Amino acid sequence: MVTNRLMWWGVARESVGELSLAAVELVTNACRETPLARVGFRAVLAPRAREITIAAWDGSPEMPKMDDSALTLEEIDALPDDHEFGGWGLRLVAGSAARVGTRSTEGGGKWVYAIYRPKFT
Ligand SMILES: Nc1ncnc2c1ncn2[C@@H]1O[C@H](COP(=O)(O)OP(=O)(O)O)[C@@H](O)[C@H]1O
Ligand SMILES: [Mg+2]
Repeated sequence: MVTNRLMWWGVARESVGELSLAAVELVTNACRETPLARVGFRAVLAPRAREITIAAWDGSPEMPKMDDSALTLEEIDALPDDHEFGGWGLRLVAGSAARVGTRSTEGGGKWVYAIYRPKFT
């Protein structure tokens, strides 16, 4: 659905992959974190700014963190064997997006979003 919409908006093929990955990543995180399986999703084009926002809403008050991806190899070596790694997905999104952020919503929950300036055809 996202891929179709991006192509309909004229996003260049090379940027479609990046933005679709962001959609998958943010929605997957939201599904994992949210109570009652309530998840929201938006893909919004701002034509004049030539920006696209990819955003997922979930009901958890916890904010995302990107701790593990900032670890050095030495720090990774020092972790216990059963350490569950995480935190690369958002780092990838943050690396390809113009900016990322979170916004709490009334009544609990928050949007996690990534704003892109993709190439257009
Ligand atoms: N929507 C979210 N709500 C609360 N915490 C989140 C959310 N998204 C991510 N996180 C937290 O931030 C960490 C990093 O997320 P991410 O980079 O997607 O890594 P991964 O999904 O591989 O664990 C997650 O382990 C989780 O603890
Ligand atoms: Mg993730």
